[in-house]
Amino acid sequence: MVPAMTSLRFLAALLVAAPSLLPAQQPSRDSRKIYAEFCASCHGDKLEGGSAPSLLGGVWKHGGDDASIAASIRDGRLENGMPPFGATVSEKEIRALVVYIREQAGHAAGRNNPAPRPAGDVAAKGKLHSFRLQTVIPGLREPYAIAFLPDSRVLVTEKRGTLRVVEKGVLLPEPVTGLPSVDSGGQGGLFDVVPHPDFARNGWLYLAFSDQQKSDPHRGAVMTTVVRGRLKDNAWTDQQVVFRAPSETFRHGGNHYGGRIAFDKNNLLFFSIGERGNQNDAQDLTRPNGKIHRLHDDGRVPADNPFLKTPGAIPSIWSYGHRNPQGLRFHPATGELWAHEHGPRGGDELNRIQRGLNYGWPVATFGMNYDGRPVTDVTVRPDIQPPVTYWLPSIAPCGLAVYTGDRFPKWKNHLFVSSLAAQELRRLEIGKDGTVIDQEIIFKGLGRMRDVANGPDGFLYVLLQDRVARLVPDGQ
Ligand code: HEC
Repeated sequence: MVPAMTSLRFLAALLVAAPSLLPAQQPSRDSRKIYAEFCASCHGDKLEGGSAPSLLGGVWKHGGDDASIAASIRDGRLENGMPPFGATVSEKEIRALVVYIREQAGHAAGRNNPAPRPAGDVAAKGKLHSFRLQTVIPGLREPYAIAFLPDSRVLVTEKRGTLRVVEKGVLLPEPVTGLPSVDSGGQGGLFDVVPHPDFARNGWLYLAFSDQQKSDPHRGAVMTTVVRGRLKDNAWTDQQVVFRAPSETFRHGGNHYGGRIAFDKNNLLFFSIGERGNQNDAQDLTRPNGKIHRLHDDGRVPADNPFLKTPGAIPSIWSYGHRNPQGLRFHPATGELWAHEHGPRGGDELNRIQRGLNYGWPVATFGMNYDGRPVTDVTVRPDIQPPVTYWLPSIAPCGLAVYTGDRFPKWKNHLFVSSLAAQELRRLEIGKDGTVIDQEIIFKGLGRMRDVANGPDGFLYVLLQDRVARLVPDGQ
C-alpha cells in the first residue's frame, strides 16, 4: 500500500500514526505557533498555499463555515493528503486555528482591496455617497466623545481628563475647571459626555470617567463612575454622583472601562462598564464591571430592573457578559439599544441589548486571546445572546452612531462604528430581520478614532487623534 501513496499521503499517514503529542490537560498553545509547526510546510508560511491550497482566498472545497474548517483540521481530508489533527491539537486550539486563519485571510483581503483614505480636498468615493473630510475643531488631544448642546455650544472630552468647550465655533483655550479627578493611566480617562434629554430646561450634563480610590483599604483601585453636573461659565458645578460602585468592587489595572452613556425616550439612563480585565467578573452579578446598567436620571434604581430579586446582585445591572462596550446608542427609529464591544483577538461584537440577557463573555466568544491561545471553543450557547455580527480580524470599536441627518440620504438609519486599532469608520445597514445586510469601510488609516456622532447640521462627525472632523457630501 505504501508504495502507491503520493509523498503527501505518506506524510499524512505518518502524522496520523504518530503518538498524541498533546495530553488533554496540557495548557493551550499559540495558534500561530501551531500553524508554523504543523501546517506551514504544506499550506505556506503565510497561508498563501504551497503543496496544499491557500487558506486566504475564501475558496473552500469542504465548506467555508467555521464548523467545516474545524472539521477539515480535526478529521483531515486524508484521501487528498490533508492529515487529521484531532489527536495532536485540542478542540479549543482548533477553534483558535480557525480564528487565526480568518484573521490572516481578513488582513490579506484588506491588503488586496485597500479602503479609501481621504486626504485634503480630495473626495473619497463610497458605495452610496462620496464625501470630503473637513476639519472643524483642531487643537485637541485624544478626544473621546462629543456632545452638541441646543444652545449651539459643542463639548468635547479628552482622554487625559479634560472637558473642552467650543463657543461660536471657537475652542476655548482653557479646559472646564472643577471636573472630578480622572485616572487616565492605561485605557482610563474621561469618557462620554451626554446632555440630559431635557438639557434646555435643566442644564444637566452626564460624564463617565475612570475613578480611582484615594484611601485605604482600596487605594489605587479604579472603576467607571457616572456623575452629572452643570456648566457655569467655564466651570463644572452642582455635581451629583449618579453611579459609583461599592468601594470593595473597584479593580486594579488599567483596562476595559466601557464608559458610554445613553438615554432612552423615557429619560432612563443606560451606561456601560467593561470587565476591567477580570474576565470572570462579567458573569458575576455581584460585580458592576462587564455590565450595561440602567438607572433613573438622578441615580435611583428603576423598580423594574431585571436583577432586583437576585441575592447580592448590583441592582442597576441591565445586561451582563460584556467585555468592553465602548459604543452604546439608542436607534431613534426603532428605540432599540445597540452596543458594540471589544472582544479578545477576533471577537469584537455588535449587540442589540435587551433586558436581563447574558452576552456571553468569557464563556462564549468568536475570538481568541491576544497571545493566540484559545479562550474557549464555545461560540454560541442556547442561554447566551449571540452577537448581531462580530469582527474578525478585530477592529477595536470605540464610538457608535445611528445616522439621522439628511445630508447623506442613503445613509439614513445606518449604524456608524469608529475604531481604534483598525483606524476605520464603518457603515452597517441593518435589514428588517435585524441582521447586517451591508457593511462598508467608509475610510481607514487616519489614526485612532474614539467617537462618531450626528451633528445638528446633518453632517457626520468623527473624532481623530488631534481634531474633530466632519464628513460632507462631495460638492457641498
Ligand atoms: C501534509 C500536508 C498538509 C499539512 C501538514 C496540513 N494540510 Fe491542510 N490540507 C492539505 C491538503 C493537500 C489539502 C486539500 C485537501 C483536499 O483537496 O480535499 C488540505 C486542506 C485543508 C483544509 C480544507 C480546505 C478547503 O478548501 O476546504 C483546511 C481548513 C486545512 N487544510 C487546514 C490545515 C491546518 C490548519 C493545518 C495544520 C494544523 C493543515 N491543514 C496541515 C495538506 C496539508
